[in-house]
Amino acid sequence: MGQTLNVIIIDKEETSRNIIKSYLSSVEDISVIGEFYDFDLGYDFAKDNGRCLVLIDVSQEQDKSLSLIKKLKENNKDAFIIALSAKTSTETIIKVMRAGAKEFLNKPLIQSEFTETLNELKSEFENTEIPDTCKIISTFSNKGGIGKTSIAVNLAVELAQISKEKVALIDLNLQLGDVATFLDMNPPFAMDYIANNIHNLNEDELLKTMSKYKNTSLYVIADPLNIDNSKDITAEQIKNLLAVLKKTFSYIVIDIGTNIDSKTIAALDSSDLILLIAIVNLPAIRSTQRCMDLFNRLGYSSDKIKLVLNRYMENEDIKTSDIEEVVKQKVYWKIPNNYLTMMSAINKGVPVNEINSESNIALNYKDFASKVSDYLITQKLNKNYGKRELKI
Ligand SMILES: Nc1ncnc2c1ncn2[C@@H]1O[C@H](COP(=O)(O)OP(=O)(O)O)[C@@H](O)[C@H]1O
Ligand SMILES: [Mg+2]
Repeated sequence: MGQTLNVIIIDKEETSRNIIKSYLSSVEDISVIGEFYDFDLGYDFAKDNGRCLVLIDVSQEQDKSLSLIKKLKENNKDAFIIALSAKTSTETIIKVMRAGAKEFLNKPLIQSEFTETLNELKSEFENTEIPDTCKIISTFSNKGGIGKTSIAVNLAVELAQISKEKVALIDLNLQLGDVATFLDMNPPFAMDYIANNIHNLNEDELLKTMSKYKNTSLYVIADPLNIDNSKDITAEQIKNLLAVLKKTFSYIVIDIGTNIDSKTIAALDSSDLILLIAIVNLPAIRSTQRCMDLFNRLGYSSDKIKLVLNRYMENEDIKTSDIEEVVKQKVYWKIPNNYLTMMSAINKGVPVNEINSESNIALNYKDFASKVSDYLITQKLNKNYGKRELKI
């Protein structure tokens, strides 16, 4: 049993309040502690009720209801507010969210959507110490030698550079990963130690245990030094590790191995964005198609998966449109083929921007990182701004 979530309903219509109550009765650990016809009475009650969920209808007297949401947010920071409205326009949604509502739902309420939102909010309510701001990005392909590690490493370096926020880079190639080598690091602690001890480490200790890359905000978790230790790492540990890292980091970049096992699936499930890496040749495209099939079977939505073409060269026999047709996915980004810069970076153990920050590939990675970060921020906004797409 989770913590009980106290709910307050503020809605002028009795029928509507009754529908809400009947839908709420199918959600566990919910207790309706007040229902109000009048905005002011509802506000007075909600402002003194600490952590609670306030469902407020904003269809009528919009200005009044918006100022109530604003006031409530100011006077009870622990109130979670869901706005309900029979009138839907992007304008209304933006106004309501800016005022401080956490969600916006259309009326008439659809029971499944309502219950789903409630359950999401409940788990957030139970874990409010976890800020919902961390974004997890994975690089994936079921083939080796495609550029997963190069992309994970260079993207993580650029994300740290442009955001100045803490970025974690995790090597999930638990046997013979390359991340530490690509950055010429010798981490004293690796995935096996960190996964085993994650719950005993406070934030400072965690950051000391992970390896900081030079003078940046990038921290690395490498694959175990001893291959034997990698088999003891479980999918559950990976999930726990990510959940704890989310409290400290703004971005987590995972270089996922080619094996499709429970650990890979745990990492893919936890990802906000999966960069599916392909190169332009037939076997690679076929593998990419198979990965897409897998993602469909796993039930991932298409906005979680982005197709990235690595080592891209213009004028190839296979056109981008051919790939898009076969893979049934638009190409999101193309990384140019630049073998010399890439090889030199790998051999020296540095990101490409340290070899030549003006090279086509270094500039491409910088733009790629901005695009990915903008995309993830918009995704979060869309999620928070209700269940529909918001064009920003
Ligand atoms: N954009 C690129 N241009 C040229 N060579 C690349 C590029 N990206 C990666 N490579 C090369 O491809 C090889 C495989 O890259 P790697 O990142 O190790 O792939 P994976 O992790 O998928 O096995 C490396 O030798 C690397 O130098
Ligand atoms: Mg690799």
